[in-house]
Amino acid sequence: MRIVSGIQPTGNLHLGNYLGAIRNWVSMQDDATANGGECLYFLADLHAISMPHTPADLSANTREMVAALVACGIDPDRSVLFNQAQVPQHAEMQWLLNGTARMGWLNRMTQWKDKAGKNREGQSVALFTYPVLQAADVLIYQATHVPVGEDQKQHLELARDIAQKFNNDFCSEDAPLFTLPAPFIPPEAARIMSLRDGSSKMSKSDPSDMSRINMTDDADTIMQKVKKAKTDPEPLPSDKDGLEGRAEARNLVSIYAVMAGTSVEDVLAQFGGQGFGSFKPALGDLLVEKLSPINARFVELRQDRAALDAILKKGAEKARALAIPTLEKTYEALGL
Ligand code: ADP
Ligand code: NA
Repeated sequence: MRIVSGIQPTGNLHLGNYLGAIRNWVSMQDDATANGGECLYFLADLHAISMPHTPADLSANTREMVAALVACGIDPDRSVLFNQAQVPQHAEMQWLLNGTARMGWLNRMTQWKDKAGKNREGQSVALFTYPVLQAADVLIYQATHVPVGEDQKQHLELARDIAQKFNNDFCSEDAPLFTLPAPFIPPEAARIMSLRDGSSKMSKSDPSDMSRINMTDDADTIMQKVKKAKTDPEPLPSDKDGLEGRAEARNLVSIYAVMAGTSVEDVLAQFGGQGFGSFKPALGDLLVEKLSPINARFVELRQDRAALDAILKKGAEKARALAIPTLEKTYEALGL
């Protein structure tokens, strides 16, 4: 079992990124390695240039994301953790696969249509061919499993189509070159809402810092933000139906449940009938207890540029060693 997954390097990480994305990577790593498998995790910095971007932010965000991943539990000794740009074999493989991918296949990608909108002529070529780079990202490692959310299913399907066509066109039937990666539905990710209204997504784009818990927030800041979170005057209900129409209450109870590793029902069984005057301090304490060790490691690591660069360098070396044999066979199969 070899799992390959990428994440866009973004800065200003918050509780939503941790509970909705990073935590899943940690549990996939732990499950895979317990079963003799391995995970390759990469920062998709090559993908990031398909949209307008600021170069200085891209390299800073790449390092910040590595610091967050390691602080949250990705172990660079157990998983291969790297950034695409240091493994040029991804870009080489994309070019080789461009000969197999069809224009019609890419034209049908709903993400391309959504992102380009009415202005296709003004988009970068990279935005159009992005799914071919994604195919290269997984095929070059002979990935057996790729975690995909609903929005990425079509791109993995495309990677399988490219692999299949390449195997058909350039390999003998008994020796296909590429493994067809199977989609893997990751454990259901939590969706964390804003502390300001409980109904918009917690996001770095929200201008109000009080709307989110940042992964850099210290204990006092976390307690303060939870205390100021918007709520209604009613006590908590004793069952889930009682959260109907109470988005703010539902969000805080959900966050408690996810952080405590229990269910919303259990949280309500414990706190039903109590007001926010007692629930909020309990939630704040729980967040501080669970996030403090991560926060401490993150804050320390994100300013240790040498350590982050060393992690990425080592990860890239391991990734290149895994990528090169398949890349060489691909050249050979094409008569190059
Ligand atoms: P932001 O909304 O802060 O810009 P991104 O769009 O960069 O976050 O998302 C990065 C990753 O974090 C994605 O996998 C996304 O699904 C996850 N994520 C972001 N915000 C949340 C949230 N509020 N709840 C759950 N997951 C989230
Ligand atoms: Na976003």
